[in-house]
Amino acid sequence: MEKKQQENHKGQFGSNIGFLMAAVGSAVGLGNLWGFPYKMGANGGFAFLVLYLILVVLVGYVILMTELALGRRTGKGVVGAYETLSKKYAFIGWMGAIAPWMILSFYSMLGGYCIKYAIANLGDLFGAGWGVNGQDSGAFFGEFTSDMLQTVIFSLIFVILTVLVVRGGVSGGIEKFTSIAMPALFVMLVIVIIRSVTLPGASAGIEFMFKPDWSAFEGTGWITVLSVAGGQMFFSLSLGMAIMIAYGSYIPKEQSLERSALVIPFADTIIAIMAGLATMPAIFASGLEPGQGPGLLFITLQTVFNSMGKFGPIFGFLMYGLVFIAAITSSISLLEGITAVAMDKAIEKGKKPNRKKYATMLGISIAITASLVSIDGLGANGFPQFFGQSTWLDSIDLISEGILMPLGACYCAIVIPTAWVDEEVTLNGNKFRTKRFYDFCIKFVAPVMMVIILLGQLDSFFGLGMFS
Ligand code: PHE
Repeated sequence: MEKKQQENHKGQFGSNIGFLMAAVGSAVGLGNLWGFPYKMGANGGFAFLVLYLILVVLVGYVILMTELALGRRTGKGVVGAYETLSKKYAFIGWMGAIAPWMILSFYSMLGGYCIKYAIANLGDLFGAGWGVNGQDSGAFFGEFTSDMLQTVIFSLIFVILTVLVVRGGVSGGIEKFTSIAMPALFVMLVIVIIRSVTLPGASAGIEFMFKPDWSAFEGTGWITVLSVAGGQMFFSLSLGMAIMIAYGSYIPKEQSLERSALVIPFADTIIAIMAGLATMPAIFASGLEPGQGPGLLFITLQTVFNSMGKFGPIFGFLMYGLVFIAAITSSISLLEGITAVAMDKAIEKGKKPNRKKYATMLGISIAITASLVSIDGLGANGFPQFFGQSTWLDSIDLISEGILMPLGACYCAIVIPTAWVDEEVTLNGNKFRTKRFYDFCIKFVAPVMMVIILLGQLDSFFGLGMFS
């Protein structure tokens, strides 16, 4: 009997802290490490932070709680969960399964870049030929991204590592890995912050992030800021698709969902701010300007490490190592989100949910898409581009992060009955302390915000200037 149960079981988190490590690991990713500090600095500084926090509480918290509750109640991944609600909602589930699959293609490439850079900094430490060796970091980056074979190899290493962890299962793979990786990330982050904020001239970077700049809110500027903050929040909390529903389905029934839904955004935001303190002061201290996107991480920061003398490579290695950890704990959740869907479909057909097989098969499909995105080399290799974007990464990001995620969250807010969430949260006599707040926000605030975010995302991707 026990054996049979195990066979049909997709897995479960062993402890609440283990689940939190996995969920925070999913939330903390590339979005925190370069998206947040830059967006905060460029969109009103402290004023942006205040708005972001309000959005996290009014929208992020309630959507996260809804997704965790939906997952745990149905015990299914995103497709099965929406199908359980009604067959007519299956399409929402499929949208939620396609998005992570797409995100994995560029996430794996960027994760591969981190491995390359961690190794290159290690090389510098020993004066090895494969280091950066004081080369101009823009040239080094350009050379690397246009070396198709090399970028593909690093992306594949990243995909293989992700698959290996997911094959290990929920408690034996994901929980075990993230429970070691997240504390390690935290320690590395603290070390880099200490160095960054003590550099001469660091205060300009702190000012860039935290100085309230109300001019960003002038006229219709506040709409832009609102949608930037909202889009960032969604991506950063891994909402609007398969991830938190799948993780929710592995939470034991006796654990309190309400508390987790508070802790995850809180930890995610703290780490995003810490990431800013690790990078911005160092960038300003070196007299550089923070750029947006991959350039910030791989060109600007490497320039900083190049200028730090003999300790530069140590901090470079720590920094790229920690970004790698942040990226892989997120990519694990992305792969788990879709592996859960495949396992559900097998169970529906009366088959054994063969996790190892599905994780590997999906991993192979991602290896292919990640290789394609890598070959584009962030637009460096002259391939045709789509939707008015300049890289394949941006095109895929437009569809997944720009459209599918906010749409998925919008549907989630509208179609999941509040009674379901209520029942799930109050299981085992747990109190639902924020119930009235939850009911109000999920009905009125979240859907309106979602629409603004969706329009804002489309506006920024296509440069329509709707809000300027
Ligand atoms: N939250 C991750 C980040 O901030 C990205 C991510 C999005 C991960 C969606 C899983 C799902 O980078």
